[in-house]
Amino acid sequence: MEIKKVTQVHFSPSGTTRKTAEALSESFGLPVDDADLLHDPSVTRRFGADELVIFCLPVFAGRLPEFCPKLLSQFTGSDTPALAVVVYGNRDYEDALLELADLLKSRGFVLAGAAAAVAQHSIFPAVAAGRPDAADIEKLHRFAASAAEKIRLAAGPEDLGEFPIPGNHPYRKLTNVPMHPRATSACIQCGTCASVCPTGAIPLENGRITDRSLCISCTACIKACPVDARGFGGPVFAIGSKLFAHKCAQPRQPEFFL
Ligand SMILES: Cc1cc2nc3c(=O)[nH]c(=O)nc-3n(C[C@H](O)[C@H](O)[C@H](O)COP(=O)(O)O)c2cc1C
Repeated sequence: MEIKKVTQVHFSPSGTTRKTAEALSESFGLPVDDADLLHDPSVTRRFGADELVIFCLPVFAGRLPEFCPKLLSQFTGSDTPALAVVVYGNRDYEDALLELADLLKSRGFVLAGAAAAVAQHSIFPAVAAGRPDAADIEKLHRFAASAAEKIRLAAGPEDLGEFPIPGNHPYRKLTNVPMHPRATSACIQCGTCASVCPTGAIPLENGRITDRSLCISCTACIKACPVDARGFGGPVFAIGSKLFAHKCAQPRQPEFFL
């Protein structure tokens, strides 16, 4: 099969999923289109069989972020080769990769490969700090090269074949993280956090308020704040961070499936 174009689709509140997507896309040496689900959630695309689509999503509590399946229904393949990639913060990815693979197959994509990549934890940044690092990027490049070769050698989508992907049916229950970012007195009420929040949990007119019933703790507001006025805080978070960092201290390695 000949691929003429690559599209990277990502939802990346703190930027590591995007970085992972870019490392994979650049390996193909083809024109790359970008679909950024954080900043343009209304993006809708249809793809042909001569394209490759790289779907990269972060892992939230062992699943895909709750509203991502709805966003993915805006993408339609027509026997289009795809890579399913989840990015997780060195704890575990549980059912997220299987969930993504199932969704893509139901949307007309044929999986050429799948990966669970590791990145700095967006809530507990001491965990896997600085990842993906140079060694991770090198592994992502090698995986992309193998996927490219697999697609090149395939006469048609049926040759890309089935391969096992870890995870369970039914998927684990969707759960929300019980901590939410909040603003400090340094907040300048610029509205940047509100404009980037994917669930509308922060009112545009008052960046110091977070609607906890809407917030999914994705950290997009923390990353976007121009004056570092948003973050998790309080003694419970401080103790939880230490315990979590201890529990997840052992570096995990990216896993690839072809
Ligand atoms: C709400 C939430 C839940 C998370 N759940 C998990 C998890 O179950 N396992 C894990 O290893 N990392 C988990 N993480 C960490 C992210 O998967 C990881 O930091 C990822 O790189 C974030 O992607 P981003 O930088 O594109 O936002 C979670 C992060 C958030 C914000």
